[in-house]
Amino acid sequence: MLVIFGASGDLTSRKIIPALYDLSVGGDLPAGLSVLGVSRTVMTDDGWRDRLGPWVKDHARRYDPVAWEAFARRIHYFAGSASEPATYQKLGERIAELTDQHGSRGNILFYLAVAPSLYVPIIECLDQSGLVPEGRRWCSLDRDAMPWQRIVVEKPFGHDVASAQELNRTLGRVFEEDAIYRIDHYLGKEIVQSLLVFRFANTIFEPLWNHRYIDHVQITAAETVGVGSRAAYFNEVGSIRDMIQSHLLQVMALVAMEPPTSFRNHHIRQEKAKIIDAIEPLPLDRLEDFAALGQYGGDEHEPAYNLLDGVPEATTTETFAAISLSFDNWRWAGTPFLLRTGKRMAAKRTEIVVQFKRPPAGLFAHLDTDAPQRLANRIIIEIAPDSGISMRFDGKVPGLGMRLDTVAMDFDYSERFGAVAIEAYGPLILDAMRGDQTLFQHRYEVEGAWRAVMPLLGPASESIRRNLHSNYAPGSWGPPAADRLLTAHGREWHNP
Ligand code: BG6
Repeated sequence: MLVIFGASGDLTSRKIIPALYDLSVGGDLPAGLSVLGVSRTVMTDDGWRDRLGPWVKDHARRYDPVAWEAFARRIHYFAGSASEPATYQKLGERIAELTDQHGSRGNILFYLAVAPSLYVPIIECLDQSGLVPEGRRWCSLDRDAMPWQRIVVEKPFGHDVASAQELNRTLGRVFEEDAIYRIDHYLGKEIVQSLLVFRFANTIFEPLWNHRYIDHVQITAAETVGVGSRAAYFNEVGSIRDMIQSHLLQVMALVAMEPPTSFRNHHIRQEKAKIIDAIEPLPLDRLEDFAALGQYGGDEHEPAYNLLDGVPEATTTETFAAISLSFDNWRWAGTPFLLRTGKRMAAKRTEIVVQFKRPPAGLFAHLDTDAPQRLANRIIIEIAPDSGISMRFDGKVPGLGMRLDTVAMDFDYSERFGAVAIEAYGPLILDAMRGDQTLFQHRYEVEGAWRAVMPLLGPASESIRRNLHSNYAPGSWGPPAADRLLTAHGREWHNP
């Protein structure tokens, strides 16, 4: 059974339920699986189903009323306050009833789709409720013969290193590490996973994948939307916590990590944790050479960020962040990884750009006057809105004489495989039910990622938080300071 805390929340309606519905249409949900939503609002099972219907219509891949009705029979609702221990006795009884009714084996996947401030109270209530015997039976019982209990925890996972460690400790008192699923929906994106295949199922890239041949790597997650109705929440968080600490550092880890010993969960997660740990600490006294922050200005569609309802006008929370990270290891020493994210930017675009160095000798330089302006080879891995991989290299322009130009070899995911990408949440929830943690974060990754960004969140970051208001125009590629991070080293952002 899947027990979702935060049944009436946006994440549940917009992502989790449509994703589960899609899985049910494809016949991919385990038989006997039922869903129990928990929230405070008083509602019946049918009341919740009626509320969810329109969301599924809008967000599922293919809506079919008959299929929805069949799936909706698996959905149930329980009204109660998840942070009060008294709720849990009745909740336990309802879980037992539904387990019988749906003929399931008694396995429970808890999903924390609530405000982060409720994580610890809910985990503590679960502990006291006796609903999670899993963590206590490790030595004494045959684990595989017993029903399991697991927990999915959404981001943001903590607010800083200390709160992430505290949350990990609280979780660890109730659940084994192999029952804890720290979700990052970027890891469920098809093309992000195919990064591992691209790197490790081919021989042509890996020998070049190091500081000798790669000048730098850019990872961009640009969005055109503003923070809109999430303004009050977002202002507590900002782009570094919302996007960089989680999604962008996870993508970076997959690009930069060493080849894992096998494609098994612990081997992949070990390598990710290692590379995150190898990030060089940002120098507190020179942050402006390594990071640039911004806040979007206003236009006819949305006011400037600091004038939004729920945001104090003097706010220094960033809606744009660009940072330059480097690694203290043999593979990457001297090759910066440039991470950038922002709201209300010129395009919705998530991509990785691997920029190679120029060839050691300029063989054609005397024939080709454009050569110095043209970029050296690059590989662009597009994650959104389309998925694909494109390789740029120089070719000869046909005709007399020797003129060179950049040409591209493109692989478009949907063109080649004809598949519509599945919403990332579906496969991830399925993995959690199967007990596969490969695409979830280990506690060391989460804590390491917080350590990497802490200099940008503490008092030293005041030096880069001055004069943020409207320092970039909506529809642009961010503030000028972000460009300077690259131009200072003769590089430039790839702004498609
Ligand atoms: C979420 C962030 O985790 O990811 C949002 O909280 C952001 O602020 C979203 O908009 C972006 O996800 P995607 O899949 O649209 O790139």
